[in-house]
Amino acid sequence: MPLTSSDAAPADLADSADLAAVPRKPNRHGGPEGNRRLTAAVGALLLVLFAAQGVTILFLGQLLSWHFFIGMLLIGPVCLKIGVTGYRFVRYYTGDPAYRRQGPPHLLLRLLAPLVLATTVALLATGSTLALLGRDTGPVPVLLLHKVSFVCWATAMTAHVLTHVWRLPRLIGADLRRRSAHRDGPRIGGALVRWSLLAAALGAGLAIALAGTPLASSHW
Ligand code: HEM
Ligand code: HEM
Repeated sequence: MPLTSSDAAPADLADSADLAAVPRKPNRHGGPEGNRRLTAAVGALLLVLFAAQGVTILFLGQLLSWHFFIGMLLIGPVCLKIGVTGYRFVRYYTGDPAYRRQGPPHLLLRLLAPLVLATTVALLATGSTLALLGRDTGPVPVLLLHKVSFVCWATAMTAHVLTHVWRLPRLIGADLRRRSAHRDGPRIGGALVRWSLLAAALGAGLAIALAGTPLASSHW
């Protein structure tokens, strides 16, 4: 059973006759395919940062400051990931013809996505609270909530990554290759904008991490 939108004709393309009538407008930034490539590129960056964060969890006693640093560094790329997938969601449900033609993610992915989003926000929010308040968080067991959200997040994220990781090489390769290959589909613009957005998100995360880590370390 195909699990991603490019593999299956979603049922709600009933109005494809109407969509076919809508002239295809070239999009300078690559439209839905550009959105897809940026989503994949941020995903790949997150995968690397999650792996590094995983190492800090295994050696938390020695690497707590690195846990804070990488945890805060993640905030930038996570915000970009939520932004780019949220943009697709809004364009699709507000009837943008190009996004309608692309179709929505498979139903299972649409059901998984809110879990991926909510557990990610919970993990970073509880972590940030621990950084700001330290061990004593009053009546709210923030450290317990941080660990519980981690378990829920790890479950949802494993399903998300196992579904999507196969498509990273094509989607990211398409923006790396100087001359587009046949499997890249039609040539689209906006690669520089996408790489700049990725660099800006990482830069924002770095600023948060550089500012926040000394503060967090002073509490732990
Ligand atoms: C904080 C972590 C992450 C969040 C919040 C997140 C969220 C999302 C959401 C909401 C979607 C759209 C629904 C879907 O198609 O499943 C999506 C799509 C996708 N994600 Fe993630 N994701 C995260 C991490 C990752 C990672 C680590 C990877 C690496 C494998 C990844 C790869 C992808 C890909 C390839 C797509 C489909 C792009 C497309 O075809 O449009 N994501 N992500
Ligand atoms: C804003 C970023 C983050 C901050 C400030 C933060 C802070 C903390 C703190 C203070 C602890 C407790 C350390 C102790 O008991 O001595 C902790 C534990 C933990 N954190 Fe984070 N964290 C952050 C992000 C993350 C992320 C992104 C993950 C997972 C991807 C994560 C997973 C965990 C886990 C699993 C533990 C429990 C480890 C254990 O008790 O064995 N944290 N974190």
